[in-house]
Amino acid sequence: MTFTLRPTTPADALAVHAVMMSAGMDPRSSWVRTTIADVEWSLSKGAGFLALRGGAAVGCVGSRPDGYRTLTLNKLATRPEVRGQGIGAALVRAVEAQARAGGFGRVLLAVSLYNLGVLPFYEHLGYAVSSEPYAFAHPDSPPPVVLVKPILREAPP
Ligand SMILES: CC(C)(COP(=O)(O)OP(=O)(O)OC[C@H]1O[C@@H](n2cnc3c(N)ncnc32)[C@H](O)[C@@H]1OP(=O)(O)O)[C@@H](O)C(=O)NCCC(=O)NCCS
Repeated sequence: MTFTLRPTTPADALAVHAVMMSAGMDPRSSWVRTTIADVEWSLSKGAGFLALRGGAAVGCVGSRPDGYRTLTLNKLATRPEVRGQGIGAALVRAVEAQARAGGFGRVLLAVSLYNLGVLPFYEHLGYAVSSEPYAFAHPDSPPPVVLVKPILREAPP
């Protein structure tokens, strides 16, 4: 069955939270302590996408500007039963398209030290490790690994 993406609103907090909690993240990561209220707050401050299959939320991603140049990507997750079908990559590309449309020069994201197994996924999509600090780092967590991808402007017609 195919899937569709649509932009999130704060009313999607419950669905986004449920997808995030299904992701199986390491219990030491701040991700697992994210509350529905936290998600609602971040959906009201930034933007993101929900992946739907048969009317059910099966994936999510968030985005948030960090200055005029950088769009940060966060809260990327797909439900374990739909993995390996291109939904995670489609969610990342949706944020990249949003960055391109918004005139941002790059997409930046942070990977927890408890989740380094996901690095090849992002590298496969063109992201490279950067030594810069993460602006939205959780104060109680070890500094994450930062990954960056330049966003190229569309060539003029
Ligand atoms: C990371 C995650 C979103 C990937 O979602 P997905 O729906 O399985 O991704 P896709 O099916 O679009 O995979 C895209 C490509 O990456 C590859 N890939 C997926 N997960 C991978 C991983 N952990 N390591 C290496 N490659 C991976 C796929 O094989 C696929 O390769 P292909 O294009 O050659 O077929 C999903 O595994 C997840 O929710 N993980 C837990 C939450 C998480 O770690 N989020 C990131 C927080 S920084």
